[in-house]
Amino acid sequence: MAYPYILYSLSLLSLFTFSFSSSNPNPNTITLPLSPLFTKSQSSDLINSLKTAATSSLTRAHHLKTQNPNHKQPSSSHTNTQIYPKSYGGYSINLNFGTPPQTLSFILDTGSSLVWFPCSSHYLCSNCNFPNINPTKIPSFIPRNSSTSKILGCTNSKCGYIFGPDIKSRCRGCNPQSQNCSNITCPAYIIQYGLGSTAGFLLLDNLDFPGKKTVENFLVGCSILSTRQPSGIAGFGRGEDSLPSQMGLKRFSYCLLSHQFDDSSENSNLVLQVSSTGDGKTSGLSYTPFRKNPSTNNTAFLEYYYVNLRTVVIGGKRVKIPLTISEPGTDGNGGTIVDSGSTFTYMEKEIFDLVSKEFEKQLSNYSRAKDVEAASGLSLCFNFTDVKTVQFPELVFQFKGGAKMKLPVENYFSLAGEGEAACLTVMSDGVSAPERNGGPAIILGNYQQQNFNIEFDLDNDRFGFGPQSCQKSA
Ligand SMILES: *[C@@H]1O[C@H](CO)[C@@H](O)[C@H](O)[C@H]1NC(C)=O
Ligand SMILES: *[C@@H]1O[C@H](CO)[C@@H](O)[C@H](O)[C@H]1NC(C)=O
Ligand SMILES: *[C@@H]1O[C@H](CO)[C@@H](O)[C@H](O)[C@H]1NC(C)=O
Ligand SMILES: *[C@@H]1O[C@H](CO)[C@@H](O)[C@H](O)[C@H]1NC(C)=O
Ligand SMILES: *[C@@H]1O[C@H](CO)[C@@H](O)[C@H](O)[C@H]1NC(C)=O
Ligand SMILES: *[C@@H]1O[C@H](CO)[C@@H](O)[C@H](O)[C@H]1NC(C)=O
Repeated sequence: MAYPYILYSLSLLSLFTFSFSSSNPNPNTITLPLSPLFTKSQSSDLINSLKTAATSSLTRAHHLKTQNPNHKQPSSSHTNTQIYPKSYGGYSINLNFGTPPQTLSFILDTGSSLVWFPCSSHYLCSNCNFPNINPTKIPSFIPRNSSTSKILGCTNSKCGYIFGPDIKSRCRGCNPQSQNCSNITCPAYIIQYGLGSTAGFLLLDNLDFPGKKTVENFLVGCSILSTRQPSGIAGFGRGEDSLPSQMGLKRFSYCLLSHQFDDSSENSNLVLQVSSTGDGKTSGLSYTPFRKNPSTNNTAFLEYYYVNLRTVVIGGKRVKIPLTISEPGTDGNGGTIVDSGSTFTYMEKEIFDLVSKEFEKQLSNYSRAKDVEAASGLSLCFNFTDVKTVQFPELVFQFKGGAKMKLPVENYFSLAGEGEAACLTVMSDGVSAPERNGGPAIILGNYQQQNFNIEFDLDNDRFGFGPQSCQKSA
């Protein structure tokens, strides 16, 4: 139960770039490799990096929890449709769209569904000053260079993926019952997210995996203007418009490299399983069933991957999650989701307090680094100055059915300050029921998923995970 004092230096402001490879010999799978792109932040930036990640994780949590309950509305009604995160601690993939194919980078996001890209040589991105990004030269898809690009019509059922099944609300100025509305386009979309937004119109085009597969008439968002959104997002959620849904994937899996490897040439894989392999489990993985959100009136919550997290075990001490938190209720609130687009794991106050008290108790021999807590926005940091070894309590997420996710210490404690302090990378916002916004009570972020083989087995409706070094060269 004791861990050596190894805390990795990390950079959270990392964007990964991917080069396409079809080296996987299995004809049922498409493998997309990932490799880091952004330069490592200086150690003096550590607290700032933590603060950025903490802020974006919280913004992301608020977004996921307060999704617009109904179908996305046409932008002309000025209703906010869907919100996306922009946490640059995310992971991205390269995808090829159009004929001939144009390659673009997308953030991999299991918490949303639409796939969209910057889509104009005049793509306008305000507040887009990120490291290594030139806001005036953001790589964009050019529809007129693709012979297979088509603007989506309002009568097309795929327009309904975004704006709901009511065709009349989609075909403004035309009555589909009595008129031929084929010259009316599907309405423009506006997507709101924590700190920004994106807007554009919907296209159909080929999604191409060279040498493997071409998906014709793939529905994709063509964004013209955004704030804080320098690259596209690949929605891997449960919605009809997501990449897995449109491709009819049987399962997909990824291995997220440790943030330690930002700025190196390391890369890892996203694997798309295009045909069924029966109910075979992947060796080395533990499984827990996905859980449906019982809400019938909140389509946003139906896009999320819910799992049944029952107990958090800290240094052998079991912290049981109250049923009102672990199970989503008929109002759709509560429960735990797995989100690749969140950095740190979020917990509602009620459960976070129990978890952090237990850590505090078991680490009571070390002094708190209150100044680091204040500067980073994380609520549990310790000062390890002059301490040779630290006995970190083990952290295990235990799911219904018994599957246990035992986290390596670097997945829940991060180095801070000049390297003499460390902070718990699980967070809360101090809001609990009944004041809480609703939505998922716990959001498992990508920080906690590093160096795991994570599988979304859609065919068998289950979530699989197992420890794995995501470093290919290891
Ligand atoms: C689109 O086509 C124009 C003219 O053929 C060319 O100059 C431009 O580089 C192309 N852009 C992309 C992104 O393919
Ligand atoms: C609607 O009009 C288009 C041409 O504008 C035509 O191709 C299509 O067949 C018509 N559809 C119906 C249902 O009449
Ligand atoms: C669509 O076509 C109809 C005739 O089929 C025409 O009356 C209408 O103005 C057209 N609408 C647009 C937006 O072009
Ligand atoms: C959804 O329905 C539940 C009960 O079925 C209700 O409590 C809740 O307020 C509804 N939410 C919205 C946003 O309509
Ligand atoms: C704290 O230190 C004391 C003395 O070294 C030791 O006996 C005790 O077990 C430690 N407590 C914890 C929670 O590690
Ligand atoms: C840790 O404690 C030492 C004194 O033991 C102090 O000098 C140092 O500033 C503290 N560091 C942090 C990050 O709190």
